[in-house]
Amino acid sequence: MTSSLSDSGNTLEHLLRTMPKAELHIHIEGSLEPELMFALAERNHIQLGYPDVDSLRAAYAFTDLQSFLDIYYAGASVLCTRQDFEDMAWAYFKRAKADGIVRAELFFDPQTHIARGIPMAVVVAGLKAACSRARQELGISSDLILCFLRHLSEEEAFATLEQALPFRDDFIGVGLDSSEKGHPPEKFARVFARCRELGLRIVAHAGEEGPPEYIESALNLLGAERIDHGVQAIQAPGLMQRLVNQQVPLTVCPLSNIKLCVFKTLADHPIARMLEAGLCVTLNSDDPAYFGGYLLENYLQTFKAHDLGMGHAYTLARNSLVASFAPATEKQRWLHDLDSLFFAYVPRQ
Ligand code: HPA
Ligand code: ZN
Repeated sequence: MTSSLSDSGNTLEHLLRTMPKAELHIHIEGSLEPELMFALAERNHIQLGYPDVDSLRAAYAFTDLQSFLDIYYAGASVLCTRQDFEDMAWAYFKRAKADGIVRAELFFDPQTHIARGIPMAVVVAGLKAACSRARQELGISSDLILCFLRHLSEEEAFATLEQALPFRDDFIGVGLDSSEKGHPPEKFARVFARCRELGLRIVAHAGEEGPPEYIESALNLLGAERIDHGVQAIQAPGLMQRLVNQQVPLTVCPLSNIKLCVFKTLADHPIARMLEAGLCVTLNSDDPAYFGGYLLENYLQTFKAHDLGMGHAYTLARNSLVASFAPATEKQRWLHDLDSLFFAYVPRQ
């Protein structure tokens, strides 16, 4: 149970790669690799502010969340047609397959696109086409989660929800993303109440850069079923106890947290302490094209930095499947597959 990457690396690495797992925190616009960004810019006759892929990548030196968001929104400006959205999501699904992902819940930011005159119908149709193809060709189960941009007003979130209603069956839930500090969850209490009435699943980014209080208010005032990031909970023992008791899933993104300077190095990341405390932690890539790694890379680097072992791998994969919004029958099948794989490596005592 304790073999780490350094002692029996091949076995652990194989388990990390092949174990069935869910990715619950991936902004699909954050999977847009520079090569595809340049190809789409050319296809749509859009001028990017960088001469080539290398100079764009060189600009990916972020100091905080906002410094990333500025570049991320600029990058998304190349997405214009249904095909663009499908191509981007399909590229992600191919990477997901290689990483052993069986379930992906994709965040998308319609306000970023609608503001540029791209209709909701175009965004949703392209993403859904990739999801269908992922199911048929790769056997990956997926759904979409519409995120409201928290730097905009609640009124604008309501308008976005209105525009999304004709596509109600095309997404399973709503989330809250973008600049956290100064934009507490309570700003969106009414629109999330409406989303709950509509039967949508609820998640929210909280405690990435913002204080632990935002985690409390995302739970209490928005009805969040999962917290995206949530790493600042480590500062608040009372909240930690609640999150453990209620087994609130936290979608933690280690490489993102390092790239955005939330923690200095992976070794400084509280992931091991969070696991030790009994929190329902999951690992995720957030914006893999910008943060230097897809899901498996997050697992590999985190396991190495904290000398985590087979038991941690099992816990993290299991948490991700349990915390997903997939139908119960699918979850049961993956959990069974996970057990079969894991207990072939580590016989039950
Ligand atoms: N945090 C908040 N909003 C985001 C992020 C993130 O890491 N990625 C894309 N939108
Ligand atoms: Zn995120």
